[in-house]
Amino acid sequence: EKVGLKLAVNGKSYKLSVEPRVTLLDLLREQLHLTGTKKGCDYGQCGACTVHVDGKRVNSCLALAVMQDGREITTIEGLAKGDDLHPMQEAFIKHDGFQCGYCTPGQIMSAVACIREGKADSEGEIREFMSGNICRCGAYPNIVAAIQEVKT
Ligand code: FES
Repeated sequence: EKVGLKLAVNGKSYKLSVEPRVTLLDLLREQLHLTGTKKGCDYGQCGACTVHVDGKRVNSCLALAVMQDGREITTIEGLAKGDDLHPMQEAFIKHDGFQCGYCTPGQIMSAVACIREGKADSEGEIREFMSGNICRCGAYPNIVAAIQEVKT
C-alpha cells in the first residue's frame, strides 16, 4: 500500500505517494526523473547516490523515501543557479576532477558538504571526509585540488 509523502527537492515542493520500500534514490530517479544522482552499488558502498537532506549528505540508496517527509532534498541538479554553475562544479571542471563522470554528482555533493562541515583544512582531512565516494578512474588528486581551491 502506498504512503503519502510531502517533501521539497531543489526548492520545489512535491506531494507524492510511494511504496514503503522505495529508496530516496529510486524516488529521485524514477518518480521525479532527476537522474543526475547515480546508482552505483545500491548498498552504501560507493557514494554515487550522495544527496543533501536538510543540508547533510546522505547516501540516498540507504534512505527510505517515506522517511523524508517534510525534509528538503538537494541533488546535483539543484546546485547551479540558472546558468551559473556552483563554485564546486567550476572547480571540478578546472581541475579535471573526473574522467568517466559517473561518480561526479556524488563527489560534488560530498565535496560541498566537506567544506560546509569544516572538514577541508588539510589534504588528509579532505581525503578522510571523501573516503565514501569511490572513483574508479582514480581522479582523487584532482578532486582534492578542486576542493582545496573552493576552500581558499
Ligand atoms: Fe548508494 Fe553506492 S549507490 S552508495
